[in-house]
Parts: sequence; structure tokens; C-alpha cells
Amino acid sequence: MAKKNRPAESAAAASAEAASPAHTGAANGHDHNTTITSVSTEHRKFAPPESFAETARISSLKEYRRLHRLADEDPEKFWGKIAGELHWFKPWKKLLSWKAPFARWFVGAKTNMSYNCLDRHLDGWRRTKAAIIWEGEPGEVRTLTYAQLHHEVCKFSNVLRSLGVTKEDTVAIYMGMVPEAAIAMLACTRIGAAHNVIFGGFSAEALRERINDSRAKVLVTQDAAFRRGTEVALKDAADRALTGTPTIEHCIVYRRSGSQIAMQAGRDHWWHEMMAGISAKSKAEQLDSEHPLYVLYTSGSTGKPKGIFHTLGGNLVWSYYTTRMVFDMRDEDTYWCTADIGWVTGHAYVVYGPLLNGATSLMYEGAPNWPEADRFWDMVERHGVTIFYTAPTAIRAFMRWGEGFPRRHDLSSLRLLGTVGEPINPEAWMWYRSTIGGDRCPIVDTWWQTETGGIMIAPLPGATPTKPGSATLPLPGIDVDVVRKDGTSCAPNEGGYLVIKSPWPSMLRTIHGDDQRFKETYWSHYKGWYFTGDGARRDEDGYLWIMGRVDDVVNVAGHRLGTAEIESSLVAHKMVAEAAVVARPDEMKGNALVAFVSLAANATASPALKEELREHVAREIGAIAKPEEIRFSDALPKTRSGKIMRRLLREIASTGQVSGDVTTLEDFSSLEKLRAGEEE
Ligand code: PRX
Repeated sequence: MAKKNRPAESAAAASAEAASPAHTGAANGHDHNTTITSVSTEHRKFAPPESFAETARISSLKEYRRLHRLADEDPEKFWGKIAGELHWFKPWKKLLSWKAPFARWFVGAKTNMSYNCLDRHLDGWRRTKAAIIWEGEPGEVRTLTYAQLHHEVCKFSNVLRSLGVTKEDTVAIYMGMVPEAAIAMLACTRIGAAHNVIFGGFSAEALRERINDSRAKVLVTQDAAFRRGTEVALKDAADRALTGTPTIEHCIVYRRSGSQIAMQAGRDHWWHEMMAGISAKSKAEQLDSEHPLYVLYTSGSTGKPKGIFHTLGGNLVWSYYTTRMVFDMRDEDTYWCTADIGWVTGHAYVVYGPLLNGATSLMYEGAPNWPEADRFWDMVERHGVTIFYTAPTAIRAFMRWGEGFPRRHDLSSLRLLGTVGEPINPEAWMWYRSTIGGDRCPIVDTWWQTETGGIMIAPLPGATPTKPGSATLPLPGIDVDVVRKDGTSCAPNEGGYLVIKSPWPSMLRTIHGDDQRFKETYWSHYKGWYFTGDGARRDEDGYLWIMGRVDDVVNVAGHRLGTAEIESSLVAHKMVAEAAVVARPDEMKGNALVAFVSLAANATASPALKEELREHVAREIGAIAKPEEIRFSDALPKTRSGKIMRRLLREIASTGQVSGDVTTLEDFSSLEKLRAGEEE
């Protein structure tokens, strides 16, 4: 594992600085409770490689700033130029109608997502270009050209039509990472049905709840998916879910594994039987710009999952534009986003963004460590991947597995790396840069949310110097700020709340069926501004450092600390693979910090190591952040998208028990062990 390469003297200076009031914002005369204390000490900066900047679409900060100004001063021109690169059956009458918090973009226009992703590329040479290259976990590879993908999508759209699906309906998709999942999504968009993709790792209960809330008419699933050498029985789970889903009329089953499953006559249909002989001629519906595109459920820390509702025109434009700018996407690229199609990243950056750009998108079915921990690197080498986009949690797993795995492979095809999903600790960022990127590839750390529909804050790889752990600057057209509780802007390096002050095209339109919750969750904190729920800090260069969910902020001895920064410091220790920090009530301090730590492969748990880690945090950040207690565990409880479920850890740290909803938890055994107080 890579070591921290920050010079010791600057670390010491930085921690002294972190402990000083000037750095905490207290010197600005603000109550600690209105802001969040940042303890980050990261100061490294990397200019975009010259060779990258030379050919990049945006090759200087000056150009970035010009675009930003243009978007502010002449939005008609800015958005008109971008949207004009796509196909509209009918132009918009008005760019934006904004009656906060309800936005309508490209008002009056008519368009179609599948037409833009597919038909638009069929006239030229891209017709025979690979749109999707898919690799199954057992190793088979399938390539679908734009013409072939178009053919399949047209046919499947007719299958949906034959089952009575119209543009008023919602189709639920519960599949693994197979091209048919993308085909089903695109087919929905062709006829104007909204899709509701439910991650294939979710349980029958979670599936049922999401189907019912979205009132889906048809479910598309598969017999089973391959994952880590075993089969995930999706149809079995679907059968259990469908015992309580009154709106579902039909279920279409794609045969992937060939395993035995039950088929209910009248309700269940085989994908291949429905596709056989059906026409491949399918007119793309001319849909209103504000027509539903998809609903995608995110689990909040409390309450039932929120159906984040997205519409067509804005997502079309933003998926296209952000893919183009942030990944500097080219026709020659082989681009691989490792996200599952069941998450928003899979929507915008496995399917829509790359296809809108006529790119080649690689899709992989299985686990990163199957059959061995070098599977991803083996794939990068074999497919000649040029752009690789993954999550910090995956990067930390790669670090834990060791450099030996990537070293086995020639990764020189890579030219750009990306991350998404949570703050990336500088240690992981540096490892990614050197071990995977050969110190040659820029890294785009992309901040966004299911709610934002696409990337909001990220470097432009040919223009923006990067700093490890910072998502850097908002994209042109995006108006963000870091504010105090009272809405005033924070001073440089003062931690506060991340808000978005103006509407953007791919913003969520509401929570499905619950305008009230939409207003309360996102729009009640600051009038007219969208509240992201994240804490952040803007440094002296205007760079944004995301400090995690504000729910994860802890108050220790009067300081509000973002746990992400303390975790980042722990992970920088060579014995630590992953860490999660939470607070438990403490009579003396109000709160005491508890760190759950999973150790690196070569480390051995011991009381001495606990003490060393506590001292390490005190040294790196200051005594204020020193955990009261360190608990070792071989795994931390995570959601299936890889986010650590700190809510559960908070409960374990405070009461030893877990009472809340755990349906999104990936590995129950991790929880059992923690609950039992078992230590590795
Ligand atoms: O807290 C932020 C974190 O993930 C949240 C959004 O989660 P979700 O809707 O599941 O979408 C994930 C994929 C876009 C954010 O509120 N997050 C996401 N990306 C970053 C991040 N935190 C820090 N840095 C990022 N690059």
C-alpha cells in the first residue's frame, strides 16, 4: 500500500494550523454551531498533464471561467449551444420556467432519449462502432454495435407495447449487469414509459416497496445473475415481491444463467420468446421535455425510500454535456464506469451519457475480485480501457488487496481516472494516481447525487489543477455555495452547508407522489436554494472539499467535526484499510468519538495498535479529533452501493444494538459481529 508522502514538517505545521481558531472559522466571530470545523491538512496540487491539456476540449482555467460567466450572463446562449448538439423534434419555447422549487426546462420542446442515444449515430460510421462491450463474470464477451443495440431496443420497445405499456406507465427493472438491462431502459425511453431500476442486490421486500411506490405495470428481471462465482436468484426474489404488488400485470424474464425457476402462466414471459419474431421497427415517441424519464429510489437515514423523479429534456442535456466535459470523451475512448445500473451513476454514466456521445461503454457483470483480485486490471488491459470511473470504496479495497494485482497488468491504455460516491481520502487518491494512473492520468473526483441527475462539481481534466480529496470547482452552469446556518456565505476554509442556488437542467423534479416531502427535505432549510445535505468547505482557491453528510457531523467539546476528515486521517495510517468514525454520548464531553477500523491485510490487531492509531489522529489533526475508543472489525456495514452505514455504527457505539431499517445493508454478518462486540 502506498504511504503518505506528505513531508513531515508540513504535516506538523498543518496540524498546528488546524488547531488554531483562524482555521476553524471561529476567528470570524461565528458560533461553532453554525459551521463545521474543518481539520483537513491536505495541500498537494497537481496541474493537468500538458499532453492531456493540449487536446482537451477545455484546456485552461481561463476557458472554464469564460464558460462559467457565459452560463451566468447569457443562459440562453450557453444552454442553447449545448442542447443544440442534440436532436429535438420540436424546439423549446422557453429555456426555463422556475417557480421554486418546481422547475421546467426546455419548455415546450419535444425529444426522445433513445433516439438521441441510438438513431442519431446510425447515419455515419458509428453505426458499426461498439456501443456496449459487455463482459460476463464467467468470462464471455459480447459487443453490441450502435446498429445492433438500436435493433434490440426497437424490438424490446415493441414487446413492451405488446403488453400494453404506454407513455403513462412505469416499468420496473430488477436485473444484474447484463446488456438487456440497458436495452430495457432504452426501450422504456423510446416509448416514453418511465423506468424504475431496482438494484439487483436488493431483497424481495425492498423490491416490492419500490414497485408499489412507483405503481409499476411491468417488471423486467432475469432468472439469476452471476456474482462472485455464485448465482443471485433474482427471479425467486421477484416472485416473492410479486405476491404483494397489485399494479404489476406482467413480468418479463431474461434467461441468463439457465437455472430452474418458476414461471407463472399469464403473468410471466420469457424475454427471448417475446423478442422472437417481433418487429424491429419502432418509432421513437416525440415526448415533451418534461415527460418522466425515470424514478430511482434512494434510502434516507429515516423513513421510507424516496422516489427521486427525473424528467427527459434536462437529463438528456446534462448527461450528454457532463460526460463530454468531465471525461473529455472521444470517439477513440473505451470508457468503463464500474457502477451498477441500479444506481444513478449507472443511469447517467454507464448508459445515457456515453451513448449520447457515441462512445463505447464497457459493462461488467460481476465482482472485482473474481476469480482473483486483479479482475478489473485484467479487463483494463484486455479491453484497452482509456477512461476508468469507480468509487472510493472500491479503491480502498484495491489498496487493501495490494499493489501486486494491478502490477501484473499493463495499464498504459488508461488516460483518465474518475471517482464518485463519497469523499475520497487523499491517501486513496494518491494511490489511485500512482498505482493505477502511473502518475500520468488526471483524476476527476465528481461530486453529485441521485437528486442532481448528473455531475455538479468536478475538475475539467485538461483545465483544472487537482488537489487530492477535493472535487474542485462547480461545472459551468452550476451555482453552488457553502453557507452558514443563517444562509450567509462561509469564509474561505470555514466549513458549512453545501447549497445549490439556481436551478439546473437535471435536477430532481419532485419525490414521486410526495411534493410535500420534496419541499421539506430539500427546500425548507434555505428559501429558494436546494440543500444538498452535505457539509463542505471552500478553500482559498475556491476549491470545494466535501465533508460528508451533515448527519455524519459530530459535535465534540463544542466543535462540529466532519467525520470524513478523521476517517481520512486514520486511513492514511499504513495499518488501516478502512475506517468509520461516529459519536456516542459521553457525560464529560457531550460526545465521544468511536472509530471502527478494519485493518490492512498485513496488520495484527492489538491494544498497542489502538493506542498508536489514537496518537496518530492526535498528531495528524489535533487532540480534539482523537477517538475515545477504537474498535477493530474485519468489515464495516455498508450499503450495497458501498457507503458505510454510519447510522448503524452510531447505534452500536451508543447502545450496542441496531433498531432501524437495515434492508439496504450489504453484508449482515458484519453487523452481527459488531453487535456481538467480536473483534478480529
Ligand atoms: O454525500 C455525497 C456523496 O454521496 C451523496 C450522494 O449519494 P447518491 O445519491 O447515492 O449518489 C451517489 C452517486 C452520485 C452525496 O450527497 N458523494 C457523492 N460523490 C461524492 C460524494 N462525496 C464527496 N465527494 C464526491 N465525489
